[in-house]
Amino acid sequence: MSATLAIDVRGMTKRFGRRTVVDNVDLAVATGEIVGFLGPNGSGKTTTIRMICGLLRPDAGQGTVLGLDVRTQSAAIKRQVGYMTQRFSFYEDLTIAENLTFVARLYELKPVEEAVAKTLEGLGLSSRKDQLAGTLSGGWKQRLALAACIMHQPRLLLLDEPTAGVDPKARREFWDEIHRLAADGLTVLVSTHYMDEAERCHRIGYIAYGRMLATGTVEEVVRGSGLVTYIVHGALRPEQMRALSMADGVEQIAPFGASLHVVGTDRSKLEAALAPLKGEAGIGVEPGETSLEDVFIKFMTGAQERAA
Ligand SMILES: Nc1ncnc2c1ncn2[C@@H]1O[C@H](COP(=O)(O)OP(=O)(O)OP(=O)(O)O)[C@@H](O)[C@H]1O
Ligand SMILES: [Mg+2]
Repeated sequence: MSATLAIDVRGMTKRFGRRTVVDNVDLAVATGEIVGFLGPNGSGKTTTIRMICGLLRPDAGQGTVLGLDVRTQSAAIKRQVGYMTQRFSFYEDLTIAENLTFVARLYELKPVEEAVAKTLEGLGLSSRKDQLAGTLSGGWKQRLALAACIMHQPRLLLLDEPTAGVDPKARREFWDEIHRLAADGLTVLVSTHYMDEAERCHRIGYIAYGRMLATGTVEEVVRGSGLVTYIVHGALRPEQMRALSMADGVEQIAPFGASLHVVGTDRSKLEAALAPLKGEAGIGVEPGETSLEDVFIKFMTGAQERAA
């Protein structure tokens, strides 16, 4: 079984001082799979990624990464992993070619010039190789960073918020590239705060306060949340809005343009809460699909309450 799993770890735990920031996390990622790693700020994504790539020693937990023991073979793991750190940046005052040369030497690629030339060509940056990396657009910087972390042909990619602050077109191109790499057999674990990126993953994991709260396909995670959503069209009067937000069974109300998403776990209570609005002039109520965002808000609130 574990031969087909690129990541197969259980009980991963990390403490900083007296705080447990990653708490008994299990994670299984199949070879060639793209798994999204989501969760609020400070929930333990980066720490988990650093334990998986062998940069940080877990306080507890066991398992394998690329078939290697996560506790004892971290040096071998590091050589086969491409890790794009959060807020990755190049040496802005070196040229594109100089940056790639630096990475190629780090991984002892031989001959260096050939590895750099091949990467530049793959990126379509050969003609701009002498340009300072700092002058590239945000999207190009990310593409360059990705190209650099696959120069040594890793079998596993760990990408930590690789597209933060990148525009939609560049993000789409970045994801197209990730899917191409996965189709070639590379396994990808990618952390993100973007819901649309979660939907591009084969599976996702959601972590909060160091605990993995849900894993599965987006559909499975949404279904597993047990949330029911109704959409209210039209403008509510302030007193209607107040009554709705205080009604039993209404857990979340979120405006989306000219409509409202009203979310709860108990369908009949939710319907009872919405009943007074039906038949009101200019207002429509219809069943809607629960979004991943609604699910994450519920997870976050629940985790916060438990932590408090
Ligand atoms: N070296 C460290 N020493 C002490 N505390 C740390 C250290 N690294 C991380 N932490 C703490 O561990 C917790 C988890 O941090 P981590 O960076 O893993 O979260 P994250 O999910 O990646 O957050 P973000 O989405 O903001 O990147 C945070 O409270 C952070 O402050
Ligand atoms: Mg992080």
